[in-house]
Amino acid sequence: MKLYIVAGARPNFMKIAPLFHTHTTGFDDLDLCLVHTGQHYDYQMSKVFFDDFDIPEPNYFLNVGSGTHAEQTARIMVEFEKVCLQEKPDLVVVVGDVNSTLACSITAKKLKLQVAHIEAGLRSNDMTMPEEINRIITDSISDLLFVTEKSGIENLKKEGLKESQIHFVGNIMIDSLYYSLNKLDNSSSEQGIVSPYAVVTLHRPSNVDNKQVLSEIIEALIEISRNIHVVFPVHPRSEKKLESFGLMSLINANNITLKKPMSYLEFLTLWKHAKLVLTDSGGLQEETTVLGIPCLTIRQNTERPVTLDEGTNILAGTSKDNILYHFDNIMKGNVESGKIPKLWDGKTALRILNIISGRNI
Ligand code: UD1
Repeated sequence: MKLYIVAGARPNFMKIAPLFHTHTTGFDDLDLCLVHTGQHYDYQMSKVFFDDFDIPEPNYFLNVGSGTHAEQTARIMVEFEKVCLQEKPDLVVVVGDVNSTLACSITAKKLKLQVAHIEAGLRSNDMTMPEEINRIITDSISDLLFVTEKSGIENLKKEGLKESQIHFVGNIMIDSLYYSLNKLDNSSSEQGIVSPYAVVTLHRPSNVDNKQVLSEIIEALIEISRNIHVVFPVHPRSEKKLESFGLMSLINANNITLKKPMSYLEFLTLWKHAKLVLTDSGGLQEETTVLGIPCLTIRQNTERPVTLDEGTNILAGTSKDNILYHFDNIMKGNVESGKIPKLWDGKTALRILNIISGRNI
């Protein structure tokens, strides 16, 4: 059985790697091929993750690059269609919620190919997020839906997807987290930053593309940096916006250390020793829950409610006052320890490959 696995942007690479690692443990009936769309192309946004996760060279690199949503999605569709027509995969596997996920699932389905979506069913119920549109459309046309948390099962059923298509397998990204923690055990793992410190990541268009919203978040970070050193690896989108809104000088004048985007291992080494994490990333809400690090999510909603209900995640909103209120609580020690959600155990890729290959589990 020929599987074509699609990855395009930074948050995809940690979700495909475990499939390749697990494939070597007795799945000779599955032939795994990799397509990299090139949605992310900078070394620090892409190639470095192949090294960290020991992912094989892609069979195809589509080199689509950046553009508007329509341009980027369309370019991926045109190029991926050529691959599908030539290779005729038995199953196309897409992960997450980026434009590459949407583009490749539509392309495959229109060619009447089977599609599997890993990380299906997550919903923020916020249609202003491009990722929410990508998730809903991808799920609606996928044949196999692999779900990370129980809310995903309910969301998919509500949208009319059949129970037989839905498989609760756990969180594949956590397979990569455990893989990387093992790797770090065998290396010296210090970032040379004196504890305690807070780690920040920001890149959502709703947070960084609007001057007023971004200014308010930066004001909160500056206030926080008066209490604790803040380390902020900056996404290319955010770097451009901070510069164009004239916020860079403000940051540089305070106890905030800006860093270039980091490799997964460098970044893990940083945040796993942090006092807290402030982020608008999806994946980091889940990863901090697994390692029990307090996480303030700088958004109005999350598509990952299990991290709020069971983990260490707190929805802090985007206003300065709310962010500071929750920050103060954490500094006073008012934090719940949380627990690791069901099936986030490092064996999700194994469950997925077992289901795809029709083995009994
Ligand atoms: C994309 C995903 C988002 C994910 C994020 C993680 C979509 C709709 N969004 O957002 O869900 O959380 O990746 O990073 O797919 N750029 C570079 N170098 C690169 C890639 C991008 O400089 O390697 C710059 C370009 O100017 C580009 C901008 O960053 O226009 C945004 O990139 P894009 O892929 O459009 O979306 P992200 O904001 O990265």
